[in-house]
Amino acid sequence: MTLTIGIDIGGTGIKAAIVNVVTGEFASEKIKVATPEGAFPGDVARVCHDLVEELDPQGTLPVGLCFPFVIVDDVARSASNVDASWIGLKVGDLMEATMERRVHVANDADAAGFAEYKFGAAKGHEGLVLVTTLGTGIGSALIYNGVLVPNSELGHIPIPGYRNRTAEQLAANVVRERKRLSWKRWAARLQVFYSLLEKLFSPSLFIVGGGVSKHYENFLPLISLRAPILPAQHFNDAGILGAAALAEFTE
Ligand code: BGC
Repeated sequence: MTLTIGIDIGGTGIKAAIVNVVTGEFASEKIKVATPEGAFPGDVARVCHDLVEELDPQGTLPVGLCFPFVIVDDVARSASNVDASWIGLKVGDLMEATMERRVHVANDADAAGFAEYKFGAAKGHEGLVLVTTLGTGIGSALIYNGVLVPNSELGHIPIPGYRNRTAEQLAANVVRERKRLSWKRWAARLQVFYSLLEKLFSPSLFIVGGGVSKHYENFLPLISLRAPILPAQHFNDAGILGAAALAEFTE
């Protein structure tokens, strides 16, 4: 199936489009709606239902979705920036029942990272690619020779020297905005985080995604690592593209 609907569920917005999973291009307009207040599972599922009906009224296309939490065997195992009632929920079953279509569910950073490997800044890269997304949270994806190692959650690593606050608490893009950190001060925090990741994983390529990666010129040149560190190519669209691309359905 070449066309798949990709949906990226975030704490503030839900974005969806039809994706050509061979070329990595959108085959429809991108629709963005606000996440329902509280981000409760039933409400989010209904919004997703309405989005797929709008994009594909015939009801033929499968759906790949990504969420800001750990998903193991279709079950949510954490909940960041969404209601805690997701934890333990069979997310795949809920979405399939609400939408009456085949669905595939994944973590949002895994989806974004996979999209960068398939269609973006890390296209075809051999070796270990470590993708981080800097947004409301910090998400991560590890892709080794094209194989995704899911649910790495490296944004939750405690950062030594900062009273063991996690990377996300210290250096998410919302922290930069809230604390009005200069690019230089933010980059100094990111440097500690990325140096630690380099020590632990020795990736051969770092990719930095999330909406703020559009402004990479302001902070990536300030970060020094052995491996190259590059901005993502798909910025905020990577989640949609990857959610669809990970949903490989066999007929
Ligand atoms: C969550 C991750 C997610 C990331 C980006 C983190 O708080 O734990 O699962 O990928 O935010 O949304």
